[in-house]
Amino acid sequence: MKRLKMLLAGGTGFLGQHLTRYFTGRGYQVVVLSRRSGIGRVAWNGRTLGPWTAELEGAAAVINLAGRSVDCRYTLANKYAITRSRTESTRVLGQAIGACQAPPPVWLNLSTATIYADTAADRPANTEATGLIGRNFSEMVAQQWEAECWAAATPSTRRLVLRTAIVLGSTGGALPVMARLARFGLGTPQGTGQQWVSWLHVLDFCRAVEFLLARSELDGAFNLCAPQPLTNQEFNGLLDHYYQPRFHLPQPRWLLEIGAFLLRTETELILKSRKVIPERLLQAGFQFQFPTCRQALADLVPRLP
Ligand SMILES: NC(=O)c1ccc[n+]([C@@H]2O[C@H](COP(=O)([O-])OP(=O)(O)OC[C@H]3O[C@@H](n4cnc5c(N)ncnc54)[C@H](OP(=O)(O)O)[C@@H]3O)[C@@H](O)[C@H]2O)c1
Repeated sequence: MKRLKMLLAGGTGFLGQHLTRYFTGRGYQVVVLSRRSGIGRVAWNGRTLGPWTAELEGAAAVINLAGRSVDCRYTLANKYAITRSRTESTRVLGQAIGACQAPPPVWLNLSTATIYADTAADRPANTEATGLIGRNFSEMVAQQWEAECWAAATPSTRRLVLRTAIVLGSTGGALPVMARLARFGLGTPQGTGQQWVSWLHVLDFCRAVEFLLARSELDGAFNLCAPQPLTNQEFNGLLDHYYQPRFHLPQPRWLLEIGAFLLRTETELILKSRKVIPERLLQAGFQFQFPTCRQALADLVPRLP
């Protein structure tokens, strides 16, 4: 029997590697579009049409994960690269799908839960229906990213944008970094520690993608995050519990700003309050394997390298 083909644009990174393993294990033929050559990869530049577009013909699904890392200083040049890598890859994928003889029936485009404005203490959690869309740089990038997906002329292809929260895994993403900090006494509140953290176990990320692919009646924007966000203080407290370092270091905002400058990153990644609820996934009947952060960390921390 012919295997179903899944195309992962930008699938060489943290989430792409997990999706590759997950869907290969379920019998899919996974093809990765990458700017770097390698086994199972097809070359593209994330900007222009090319021979790679033939891979879309008859594919069962396409998922676009391409995007330059946001873990950098938001200089003008970096802002441009962050935005362009997302809008141009989405635009060219839309053009390629639109030109297919046998287009994939479903296209999932990554987006980010960072599309919502910083959640003030008195604001309810952001759902897809009532969430407050922000106007800062990263929030605008997310809107442009999604707009490219909706602007595509792909009438035979169901489209979903995945407003994904911080994905926790043992082999990449934010958790290994945070765990290293906790080991050295930095499992303490960052800033006030009252900012909300929305997160998702990487296995639930893959399971949610599978769920959305299978439910042909679903389209539009989906929040991909666990149903129980927690505060930064609670999150760090859970991590600290695993390492119990001999001393703890305070992390006031001013110190974090200096640290972020020296490490060439931005404090927004840890100080922005993100309170997001996966209302549409829950309404559709998706069941999380790791609904609480305590459960997710119990599974992941022992497997950290
Ligand atoms: N990880 C998270 O917690 C999280 C949360 C929310 C949203 N997201 C979004 O989900 C996507 C995947 O996340 P990830 O953690 O897997 O990221 P990642 O590990 O950084 O992988 C992203 C991939 O994008 C490709 N890429 C980078 N710059 C590019 C450019 N200028 N043009 C075209 N492709 C480019 C790279 O593939 P090649 O070098 O092989 O071409 C890279 O492997 C990203 O867009 C990210 O913003 C991630």
